[in-house]
Amino acid sequence: MQVFEGERVPLQKVKHVSVLRFVTEVNRQILLRKRPVGVPAVGDFEAASAAVSVPEAGEVLLKNLYLSIDPAIRGWMSDAKSYLPPIGIGEPIRSGTLSQVVESKAEGWPVGQVVQALAAWESYSVVSSQMLHGKVEPIKGIPLSTMLSVLGGTGLTAYFGLLEVGQPNAGETVLVSAAAGGVGSIVGQIAKIKGCRAVALTGSDKKCGWLTEKLGYDAAINYKTTDVRLALKEACPEGIDVFFDSVGGEILNTALTRLNYRGRVVVCGAISQINEAELPPGPSNYLQLLAKSARMEGFTTLDFASRYDEARAELARWIREGQIHYRDDIVEGLDEAPSHLLRLFSGEHRGKLLVKLTDAEGWE
Ligand SMILES: NC(=O)c1ccc[n+]([C@@H]2O[C@H](COP(=O)([O-])OP(=O)(O)OC[C@H]3O[C@@H](n4cnc5c(N)ncnc54)[C@H](OP(=O)(O)O)[C@@H]3O)[C@@H](O)[C@H]2O)c1
Repeated sequence: MQVFEGERVPLQKVKHVSVLRFVTEVNRQILLRKRPVGVPAVGDFEAASAAVSVPEAGEVLLKNLYLSIDPAIRGWMSDAKSYLPPIGIGEPIRSGTLSQVVESKAEGWPVGQVVQALAAWESYSVVSSQMLHGKVEPIKGIPLSTMLSVLGGTGLTAYFGLLEVGQPNAGETVLVSAAAGGVGSIVGQIAKIKGCRAVALTGSDKKCGWLTEKLGYDAAINYKTTDVRLALKEACPEGIDVFFDSVGGEILNTALTRLNYRGRVVVCGAISQINEAELPPGPSNYLQLLAKSARMEGFTTLDFASRYDEARAELARWIREGQIHYRDDIVEGLDEAPSHLLRLFSGEHRGKLLVKLTDAEGWE
């Protein structure tokens, strides 16, 4: 099958595309075809090819190397009000990326520089320099993809969410939901580094085994097959001091019952609600916060943007010292991005979801 500039084709038909133009002239893209109802489906996306745009003053042309697959993308696909405008129908899917500058009209962003960016599911993006979230330099012994996982937004979310919002003290119990995912798999390890007991909630026995045997969690609960209330009693005999919650809903409600005096609930996300058209009722147990003089606090990683370098340096040190282990679940090729996104909701992955598009040029 051949695809020419400007032609749009349904995603299912694009498995074996051969593009007859020079690659630099064709921008392969995955567009939002329609807004999902409930859990997104592959049919909500469409593949297209378009001409590569030319940057204007203050902008750069990026070649995208890796795409970060994040729950936030599902939020941007809906037309609900959020901190960023919704992705328009027919527009490429917005995404965190690792990219390389191939043409620059923005001071301080030279050609060849590898960057973390907010760009899109496409081979090339033109973005303003405000969408560039930092320069990426090689770190000996650490693969480039890690710059978008543990040393990217995912690791930074775990780091600031736990340490700054959760403020764990040695000897305390830290409970983590979605513990085998990109963020959760790092949170428990930081909790262990800080001398805490780390307890995981996740959706399969295989994930429970990985968390306790490879990542050092003290206990792991399969919330799909266990009575979570009883399991928490056993796994957190001293109660819960910090609950790092990425799930919300019933799990949050249940965990609140075991919160300790002055406990902290870190509101990282609510993936159990992200596909719901109608918001479910709030946690009926919220008065536990009153009874325990506890607090529940949300955050976005952007709150800590001025401290990214400090966090990255510490996370990189922990990786080098073998104190943090991680797993990046990487698929290759732009067309794989929609089905990789769906894994966030089916839970068919461990660690961070990434899509590799191409290698960086000149990267050692
Ligand atoms: N605050 C911030 O700045 C910020 C930044 C980045 C991410 N986040 C949040 O962090 C959380 C984790 O993101 P991530 O990228 O690392 O994703 P992830 O944890 O790798 O993937 C999501 C996981 O959530 C679990 N899950 C999915 N649907 C669920 C449901 N209905 N009930 C319970 N568990 C469910 C699945 O694991 P199981 O097998 O365990 O069910 C799935 O693997 C998300 O809530 C995201 O919104 C927040």
